[in-house]
Amino acid sequence: MRITIDDISIECEEGELLIDVMLNNNINIPHFCYHQDLGADGNCRMCMVEIKGAKRPQIACDTFVKENLEVITKSENINEVKRSILELELLNHPVDCPICDQAGECKLQDYYMDYGLYESHLTTPKTKKGKAIELGSNVMLDQERCVLCTRCTRFTSEITKTGELGIIGRGDSARVGVAPGHELNNPYAMNVVELCPVGALTSKDFRFKQRVWFLDTSKSICHGCSRGCNISIDYNETKYTREKIHRFRARRNARINQSFLCDYGRLSYKELNNSFKGTSSSIEDLKELLKEDKKLALASPSLSLEQLQAIQTLCQTHNIKLFCLAYYDESFGDGWLKTNDKSANLASVKKLGICTCQEEFDAALQEAELILNFDHTLLKHQEFGNKKSVQFTSTHLPPACGYCFGFANFAHDTGTLINCEGITQKFYATRFRDKNPSLSELLEQLR
Ligand code: SF4
Ligand code: SF4
Ligand code: FES
Repeated sequence: MRITIDDISIECEEGELLIDVMLNNNINIPHFCYHQDLGADGNCRMCMVEIKGAKRPQIACDTFVKENLEVITKSENINEVKRSILELELLNHPVDCPICDQAGECKLQDYYMDYGLYESHLTTPKTKKGKAIELGSNVMLDQERCVLCTRCTRFTSEITKTGELGIIGRGDSARVGVAPGHELNNPYAMNVVELCPVGALTSKDFRFKQRVWFLDTSKSICHGCSRGCNISIDYNETKYTREKIHRFRARRNARINQSFLCDYGRLSYKELNNSFKGTSSSIEDLKELLKEDKKLALASPSLSLEQLQAIQTLCQTHNIKLFCLAYYDESFGDGWLKTNDKSANLASVKKLGICTCQEEFDAALQEAELILNFDHTLLKHQEFGNKKSVQFTSTHLPPACGYCFGFANFAHDTGTLINCEGITQKFYATRFRDKNPSLSELLEQLR
């Protein structure tokens, strides 16, 4: 069916919420409480629009589209409604944007600049509430900045069903909090920071480290397990150290992770900042080594499809037996996003027909005299006795070893992963070149 929004004709499906149609078509619709993965609550009233034929403005998060609906989002009447709502929201707000970590990505700040009534009518002192409260799980709360949208409380009551957060008190003393003696403590807790539309909930890990307007973003995929949650990598170039990754944020994908990440995956960005750089040997030495007999290669199941193909080609050319061992952890999966398969791409390993059998690997290892190890995670706990080995690593520092080649980690590479549900996804490199070449470039030199 077709509807009209501000004289623009839009195609949509019967039964869709008006706010979803607007968000999916990048039409600006101010809103605090509605979230595409939490649903409607109708408490903030910021999504008011005029509907032709209706007596009063309606909230877009509770309006279903119907054929020939005519919607107006910009009018003096609507602006006045939003101005009044913002005046109420800001009545007791500290308006401390210059020192707030959310500045630059805060909905309240954006809407205030668009519609705000800049002169306060308040004649009595503002109500004081708690500030810099540690909720647990890296989450900090400033109750004075909260707009009581209930996104965070709905997340813990409806999504994780752990129920740590609630609204306590009434009227102007209503505030978000945890029950006395309790803390926010679940493996997905940090999602509330991203869900909070204002600076009330901030991440202890990220806050005060960077102003968000200095950050660049690349579209990527979390490599923490086989779910393949979609992420944005936020990074910038620092004065002395080249590029630094500051955080992972969830990137919405309705089929895979909606708008959520687990805290383990969210914080896994730190490994990427500690990558091994450079080489301890030359390509010429490696070419010589490849002439030896009895060679074995071990690939990581978190490498991209392209990287696995490059390794497979190298192995076929030089008559090397190739293996890939899975990273199963029976205590990691939880039936929601986290899976027991902690590799990012085991499905590609299987698609390419690479051997994953531990027994066959163990037997081949007995025979082998030279090991090419592309499994940088196993490097942490697996050594190959007194056998000669060449380490290829993108994240972990290698143990002292004669032959070691660093290659670009996944933040600096573009590639393909297949997740646990068989969904093929692409991730993209950040704008900066890593000091290390990509693995495909490195292996190309051995041809
Ligand atoms: S803390 Fe943030 S998410 Fe929670 S109710 Fe307040 S404004 Fe909404
Ligand atoms: S569930 Fe897996 S893929 Fe998703 S954020 Fe966590 S570790 Fe990463
Ligand atoms: S977003 Fe519609 S009422 Fe809050």
